[in-house]
Formats: sequence, structure tokens, C-alpha cells
Amino acid sequence: MTKPNLLSGMQPSAASLHLGNYLGALTQWVKMQDDFNAYYVIVDLHAITVSQDPSELRQNTRRTAAQYIAAGIDPSKSALFVQSHIPAHAQLAWVLNCITGFGEASRMTQFKDKSQKGGADNSSVGLFTYPILQAADILLYQPKAVPVGEDQRQHLELTRDLATRFNSRFGKTFEIPEAHILKETAKIYDLQEPTAKMSKSAQDPKGLVNLMDEPSVIAKKIKSAVTDTDGEIRFDREAKPGVSNLIGIYSAVTGESVESFTSSLQGQGYGALKTAVADAVVAELDPIRLRAQELLADPAELDRLLAQGAAKANQIAERTLSDVYDKLGFVRP
Ligand code: TYM
Repeated sequence: MTKPNLLSGMQPSAASLHLGNYLGALTQWVKMQDDFNAYYVIVDLHAITVSQDPSELRQNTRRTAAQYIAAGIDPSKSALFVQSHIPAHAQLAWVLNCITGFGEASRMTQFKDKSQKGGADNSSVGLFTYPILQAADILLYQPKAVPVGEDQRQHLELTRDLATRFNSRFGKTFEIPEAHILKETAKIYDLQEPTAKMSKSAQDPKGLVNLMDEPSVIAKKIKSAVTDTDGEIRFDREAKPGVSNLIGIYSAVTGESVESFTSSLQGQGYGALKTAVADAVVAELDPIRLRAQELLADPAELDRLLAQGAAKANQIAERTLSDVYDKLGFVRP
């Protein structure tokens, strides 16, 4: 039986992925690659929707690929590729732009959040149409599942709406994909501001655990995480966001249940909680950092793996695009 397809991606917009990317998305990707025909993309076209430094983008693209592999993505099983290597992403995005309502695009909260910082006049049209390019990324690969964190839910809804619209106007062309969002790790919070999601654009770098951080840096960040003053170790997102975030991270990293972990710490203070979390996170991430560094020492081999992934991705992407062009009524060469 052929396996269903799966697609997901991340932006190469920082030198390191963070613990939210890892627990919200990457660990699911690794688990799902045996049961799905998986496509994992590094979305460099999305990374230029805000201003970027060219040499950093080039480095961060390879660094992201190295972290995917170091975390367990196997390039011999899954297609690992760079978005700009596949021309069909930008081509399908144009088609989808033409069936997206202006109001519909305006309701995307990510644009509202990101453009609020610099003002809508300073934001690019690319940032505005970002979710439509994301829909193209997904629909080209006919995936059943798209494993992501909670913050991508709205983009997945738009993708499903556009696929349904295209199919009903032009005949069945796209699979309607399902977001695959794990309840426990859908949203990992900032260590310094535990009601906000952990994000590359955090105000304070101490709020963010990076996959490429040295162990001592990770331990320091976790030990200075914001908690509260009642001193009680219990999971309660509303009343105790900082403590609950730490407990959730521990449970996600070790697989131990929240109940068992919190009861093992009864009678102890936040110092003990933080030490346990720091040790667990370092034990999980350190081998990934070391493996990623090894991979980065051989960029030619990384580029070869990316070219191999692109060749596989291009086949299905071209097939879908060609079907779309036919259905639209374009005269084909
Ligand atoms: P990006 O690069 O911001 O994030 C990559 C993945 O990490 C998840 N994530 C989190 N999960 C839990 N807690 C957090 N604090 C956290 N922060 C990030 C995200 O949900 C995502 O799954 N628009 C996408 C990139 C993209 C994409 C796609 C994703 C472009 N095309 C096609 C899937 C399919 C983004 O900016 O993700």
C-alpha cells in the first residue's frame, strides 16, 4: 500500500531553531516519517518577507538543514529540500493569489501581528501574501497531514479553504490537508514571558532555548526562567504559566507524565524543578547540536542531500502545477 503524503516546513530566519520549533514540530516530523511519504522544506522564500541579510540567509538555510537531520530527519526516507529550488512554489502561489479574497487575506492574524511592529506601510506585500505562498507549499505535495504548532492553525484553515475553492471551481485537483497539532506541545512559551509563545523574535534572548546553544547557556536560561511566588510545583496554565511551561517542557522531552513528574518533586522548591528541566533539555539537545556541527563541517555533502531532496520534490510539484495550469485553461507549450 502506498503511504499518504505529508509536508511541513520552517523558516531559515535564525542561526538556530528553538525549543518551540523542536517540540511543536520537529519531533513529530521525525516520528511521522515512517508512516508517511514525507516532504520537509526550508522555506527561504518566506524568509525574505521581512528584510534579511543575504550571507546570513545562506548560512541559516544550511544550518536549518543540518538541524533537521541532526534531530532525526532521515534524508534517505524523507525529501528534505529548499523551497527556492522548486520553481512551482512561486508559480502556484500566483494562481492561489488570484482566488484569494483581499478581505480573506486581511484577516490573517500573523500579518496583523508582524506589521503592527513596523506599521502596515513599512510591511511588504510579500508579508501580506505570505499565507498564500504557504498554501502553495502545502498543496503542491497533496499531503494528508501537515504537522505544525498551534500558531499555524489559521494558515492551515486558509489552505483548506483555497484547496476546496479551487477543487469546486475547476474539478478535483488538490488533497484537502489536515493540520496535525499535538495538544501537549502545540505551544511552548517564552521563559521570560510565559504567557507569550517562544519565538525567534523574542524581546529578550534569555526567553528562548536554541537547539544550537551550549549546555551552560541552556542551563542558565532555564535557571533564570520567570516563575511565581507561591512556591508550589503544580501544573496550572492560568494561575502558574511559568511553572507549567517548565513542567510541560520536561514532560515533552522525557516522556514522563506531568503527574508523575510533579509528584516526584513534592516538598521541593523551584530550584529543584529548574535543575531537573535544565538537565533533561541539555541531555536531549546536546547530541543534536554536536551532530549538526559535524554536518555543517561538510557543506558540500549537505548541498548534495538537499539537491537529492529537491529532485524528488520537484517531480510531484511539477505534476500538480501542470494539472493546475491545464485546469485553469492555460495553453500548454
Ligand atoms: P516557523 O518557522 O515560525 O516555525 C516552524 C514550526 O515550529 C512551530 N512553532 C512552535 N510550536 C510550538 N511552540 C512554539 N513556541 C512554536 N514556535 C514555532 C510552528 O508552528 C511551525 O510548525 N509559516 C511557517 C513556515 C511554513 C510552513 C509551510 C509550515 C511555510 N510553509 C508549509 C508548514 C507547511 C512558519 O513560519 O513556521
